Amino acid sequence: MTVETNRLRDLVATELGRARDRTTLLTEAVDEGDLVRQHSPLMSPLVWDLAHVGNQEELWLVRDVGGREPVRHDIDELYDAFKHARRDRTRLPLLNPDEARRYVATVRDKVLDVLDHAPLEGARLVERAFAFGMIVQHEQQHDETMLATHQLRAGVPVLSAPPPPSPATPVGGEVFVPGGDFEMGTSTEAWALDNERPAHRVFVPPFHLDRAPVTNGRYQEFIDAGGYDDPRWWTPAGWSHRQTAGLTRPEHWTPDGHLIRFGRAVPIDPDEPVVHVCWYEAAAFAAWAGRRLPTEAEWEKAARWDPATGRSRRYPWGDDPPAAEHANLGQRHLQPAPVGAYPAGASPLGVHQLIGDVWEWVSTDFHGYPGFTAFPYREYSEVFFGADYKVLRGGSFGTDRSAVRGTFRNWDYPIRRQIFSGFRCARDA
Ligand SMILES: [Fe+2]
Repeated sequence: MTVETNRLRDLVATELGRARDRTTLLTEAVDEGDLVRQHSPLMSPLVWDLAHVGNQEELWLVRDVGGREPVRHDIDELYDAFKHARRDRTRLPLLNPDEARRYVATVRDKVLDVLDHAPLEGARLVERAFAFGMIVQHEQQHDETMLATHQLRAGVPVLSAPPPPSPATPVGGEVFVPGGDFEMGTSTEAWALDNERPAHRVFVPPFHLDRAPVTNGRYQEFIDAGGYDDPRWWTPAGWSHRQTAGLTRPEHWTPDGHLIRFGRAVPIDPDEPVVHVCWYEAAAFAAWAGRRLPTEAEWEKAARWDPATGRSRRYPWGDDPPAAEHANLGQRHLQPAPVGAYPAGASPLGVHQLIGDVWEWVSTDFHGYPGFTAFPYREYSEVFFGADYKVLRGGSFGTDRSAVRGTFRNWDYPIRRQIFSGFRCARDA
């Protein structure tokens, strides 16, 4: 057994532990009633997420990688996300909170034993601990989903965190990104998921991109200018949705200039990126501002392309994993940071806060890259390919560092805004 393999096993154990600490925090913060309650028809009860995290871990690591006997074969169907819509999950005979906690702990014990013995090379599923990395990311993704459920939950506030850093430098305006091709996606990132693969060259015409996400202050100008009442700025589908859903401002904003954040009313900070807007609102703002949303390729080129070397970086700041000074990630702060707060995280072209703070809607539908192959299962991404879903990039303050990178792709319906979603604008050169 090489030193390298032992280091990888230690890393996996640390990352599994970090994910579980966060899951525990999010599920211990509320009482039993809140764990089993449906806080929104868009979300699962928290106790479903908890046991589902354990069930996926059991399926992939205990049974598949470990070749062990099932822990609870009988509950697979209950926790299959494709079998039951989120709105229906409270009516299922789910494990109660204590049973769910015991179940995930039993699975984890077995997984740590599997980790000690499994080969981390040979088969693609275990190569460089991919399956373990996939499960780490899966748990962290559900932790972000649970954090979004907390944001929708009524009742006394239960989560708190220190505020993010203040802006180091004012950041505004836009950068010019010269035309030319760059390498998009990855074929080398060990824990990259199937939809990020393979690496391929993409030509991107010259364009301009905002140096920072669109702020609350700018978004308020759109509202004040009557943007929500002017169909000129909206796509036909967007206008229709704006009418039926009665949209007049971002979700969680109150009419008196506050926003509700994890149960607390706080003044709207004009310098923070706007969050909880849907794709249709983002596209309408951009049209009103005489701009457009960036394409997915534009976003990734601005985030990864290094003009000095021509190569694509893993992150805007380089190849090192995210540290606290680079980006607002991992629920370290329970809000986006004001623009300019992360100068160390800027890309070579001077684009700020691409990673962390708010997921950024791009104009592109979710599709597989040229040469895409589903791995290890079609339901991770392939079944979502098509015009129904728009891509989001860069992660939010609620995304863990293990579950985001320059190539990472998220997707959702263009009407969704319970997620930590914002955007920035682009224009043709
Ligand atoms: Fe899941």
